[in-house]
Amino acid sequence: MASSVLGLVWLFSVLFGYGVQVEASHHLYRNLESLQSTSTNQPYRTSYHFQPPKNWINGPMIYKGIYHLFYQYNPFGAVWGNIVWAHSTSTDLVNWISHDPAIYPSVPSDINGCWSGSVTILPGDKPVILYTGIDPQKRQVQNLAVPKNLSDPFLREWIKPPQNPLMTPTAMNGINASSFRDPTTAWQGPDGRWRVIIGSKRRRRGTAILYRSKDFIHWIKSQHPLHSSKKTGMWECPDFFPVSINSTNGVDTSVISPSVKHVLKASLDDTKHEYYTVGTYYQDKDKYIPDRGSVDDDSGLRYDYGKYYASKTFFDSAENRRILLGWINESSSVQQDIMKGWSGIQAIPRSIWLDKTGRQLVQWPIVEIEKLRSNRVDLPSTELKGGSVIEVSGITASQADVEVSFELSELGKAEALNSSGVNPQVLCSQKGASVKGGLGPFGLLVLASKGLEEQTAIFFRIFKDQNRYVVLMCSDQSKSSFDQDLDKTTYGAFVDVDPVHEKLSLRSLIDHSIVESFGGGGKACMTARVYPTLAINNGAHLYAFNNGTEGVRITRLSAWTMKKAQIY
Ligand SMILES: *[C@@H]1O[C@H](CO)[C@@H](O)[C@H](O)[C@H]1NC(C)=O
Ligand SMILES: *[C@@H]1O[C@H](CO)[C@@H](O)[C@H](O)[C@H]1NC(C)=O
Ligand SMILES: *[C@@H]1O[C@H](CO)[C@@H](O)[C@H](O)[C@H]1NC(C)=O
Ligand SMILES: *[C@@H]1O[C@H](CO)[C@@H](O)[C@H](O)[C@H]1NC(C)=O
Ligand SMILES: *[C@@H]1O[C@H](CO)[C@@H](O)[C@H](O)[C@H]1NC(C)=O
Ligand SMILES: *[C@@H]1O[C@H](CO)[C@@H](O)[C@H](O)[C@H]1NC(C)=O
Repeated sequence: MASSVLGLVWLFSVLFGYGVQVEASHHLYRNLESLQSTSTNQPYRTSYHFQPPKNWINGPMIYKGIYHLFYQYNPFGAVWGNIVWAHSTSTDLVNWISHDPAIYPSVPSDINGCWSGSVTILPGDKPVILYTGIDPQKRQVQNLAVPKNLSDPFLREWIKPPQNPLMTPTAMNGINASSFRDPTTAWQGPDGRWRVIIGSKRRRRGTAILYRSKDFIHWIKSQHPLHSSKKTGMWECPDFFPVSINSTNGVDTSVISPSVKHVLKASLDDTKHEYYTVGTYYQDKDKYIPDRGSVDDDSGLRYDYGKYYASKTFFDSAENRRILLGWINESSSVQQDIMKGWSGIQAIPRSIWLDKTGRQLVQWPIVEIEKLRSNRVDLPSTELKGGSVIEVSGITASQADVEVSFELSELGKAEALNSSGVNPQVLCSQKGASVKGGLGPFGLLVLASKGLEEQTAIFFRIFKDQNRYVVLMCSDQSKSSFDQDLDKTTYGAFVDVDPVHEKLSLRSLIDHSIVESFGGGGKACMTARVYPTLAINNGAHLYAFNNGTEGVRITRLSAWTMKKAQIY
């Protein structure tokens, strides 16, 4: 069964990005029959990333020691536009096996598509799914699905109670039927009632509509949303969860205590960015208020400053951590995606927790991914003089994990910058890797060709802003490929690290056409998709570089070849 599902996946994945009609983020594809992948040469297929076709994350969860990943795909293409919940399971979040789709259109309340949603584990270890269905009037409604057989460890079959839909947009409740989707994992208040939020908007105000229920079947809309924010447009895939204030452990979604803060994340349909705030959940009023200084719009904090969308977290009760999963689309053209035969992958799952400052989250690839590391190469402590490039050899640079730490002894050459109001992404595109500076650019050149004609540069620059130093992190794709027909946007973020007292670390997970980078121990993350023409397979090289005038010291550099994960 597994292989036939995958077969479908590859066949229909060619459609992703074949933009015909775009309805929210849910593309409808026509002319399905004429599109077939013709290429067998696949330098860009990843080896250790979960990579089906188009996948939004639905509801990841763990049940009796098995991780479940549900993702969105369209087995019948746009001809029907029927989005289903594809289903894979894993015991380590690295190796996966696929099952038949868990939820597919079968009742009036989802007959035109089964869109995103979330899993909630009810007391007694009973998982249930709330998801958005598209009904015969093309309205977005919320439905419930429950496992048919709780003794099946893979929970392969799901049934839909006759009470569906449980939440419907009506003239009475004033909800726009085209802007009402993606229910979150529900949480239970001290009063025993369940709460869930659903992404929506009112004119340009993005909003998290709140519903409550005593029995998970009968849901009553609250008068007030949990939260909303002006000029942010439609909120997709909202996520709302507590984080511990004094531990990197995760906490279950219903935990409310003085030792947690809350995080609200929205995926913005208008800009395709996600942002989150850190704040307080006032349980008595069912209101969430971001902390002062936590920017509540598209310019706020992001999980990832590169490509990353429709992400979702879940509480991993087996390992006491909260895990973030995100979907990453291609940067290649539609024609290229058709040639490749697939489009869209899953980021490496990340552990996520609140930083000591309480101002932001920190993310780190799940420890299980380190099982794939082999052929370790270490560089001794090395002075990287201004203008130098050194190769890190002995690993397969097209499929690698690399960690490096930099130490700065002399900060006098930092350029002056008034960082207030500066967009770091714009600054990174003005000052790419080839623009020499004082302190920086220094960092890594990944998926680079031997002569550096092709390179993806992930680097830092240090600026002096009045009495403090500001660290900029960039991912520069401008020279990533000779191919002209690609999105080579440069990404950037400020990293909340003090370079006087702390080392500056960078980790990059490289997998043929994806580079996921973690700066400052996971305080700023950036994911890029790149498609080099020379730097493929054994033609790919890894370098450390410094294009500033001032030297920096590499105190540690370790790199590994990554083995292939088993994904069936
Ligand atoms: C439920 O699943 C278990 C384990 O796979 C199986 O032994 C049992 O026969 C199933 N029950 C039904 C009613 O299908
Ligand atoms: C409802 O949402 C749709 C999709 O964004 C939009 O086109 C439409 O104008 C909205 N209707 C109202 C009454 O706001
Ligand atoms: C975290 O803080 C809470 C509240 O201040 C306290 O009760 C708890 O013991 C602390 N936990 C740890 C691991 O320090
Ligand atoms: C997918 O990628 C394209 C091109 O790189 C970008 O313009 C678009 O916004 C992306 N979509 C999402 C949902 O991230
Ligand atoms: C920095 O820039 C901001 C906004 O552009 C401005 O208001 C502020 O006066 C500037 N500060 C200094 C020290 O120049
Ligand atoms: C360093 O800067 C020089 C001059 O701008 C440029 O030619 C070179 O490509 C840069 N090196 C890297 C690794 O970008």
